[in-house]
Amino acid sequence: TLSNSTNIFWQECPIGKLDRQKLLNQRGCVVWITGLSGSGKSTLACSISRELHSREKLSYILDGDNLRHGLNKDLGFKPEDRTENIRRTGEVAKLFADAGLICAASLISPYIRDRDACRAMLPDKNFIEVFMNMPLDLCEARDPKGLYKLARAGKIKGFTGIDDPYEPPINCEIEIQQINGVCPAPTTMAGQVVSYLEEKG
Ligand code: PPS
Repeated sequence: TLSNSTNIFWQECPIGKLDRQKLLNQRGCVVWITGLSGSGKSTLACSISRELHSREKLSYILDGDNLRHGLNKDLGFKPEDRTENIRRTGEVAKLFADAGLICAASLISPYIRDRDACRAMLPDKNFIEVFMNMPLDLCEARDPKGLYKLARAGKIKGFTGIDDPYEPPINCEIEIQQINGVCPAPTTMAGQVVSYLEEKG
């Protein structure tokens, strides 16, 4: 999208991303966790953050539910609102990565186009898409906030997976799945992500 502002100029600062990376001894990036409500996105983000913290790596979580209490409180769940929700979060995640942090963003982010737009904001493969590929049945059975029940009863309209679409990733970096019908433990899933980050430097 084009900016609505005119007569604006980009300001450079003598201290750049590489200087910050050196100071922190880490490379900033965005771990973007997508999946249905109740698929375990926030749990995974917390577990990744805990694991990184124990390795003395600085991280920060951008959680969809939490951001909707502040930055994105003016947005609902219509397609254009979800798109704006993802765009804003992508921009903030990009700033965190530029600051040198490992930013874990956990949002349903149901549309491929919106996730790809965030990916395009991050250079040098610094966008790692993690798909929580959990079956709808499981998410619905878990129903941690009772929202699926309300959606089935028609009390919430446009609920992802029920009467609103979820577009699974086609080319994500990491996919988390059940193994023999069992969900991996959060520490196991986080280990998978952190090993990937380590491998890629
Ligand atoms: S999105 O689609 O990426 O903009 O959504 P997100 O910002 O991640 O917010 C998802 C949380 O909002 C609650 N909620 C809904 N989810 C999906 N559809 C509808 N209609 C809806 N209404 C409220 C729900 O608690 C989601 O939390 P998670 O953590 O995903 O379960």
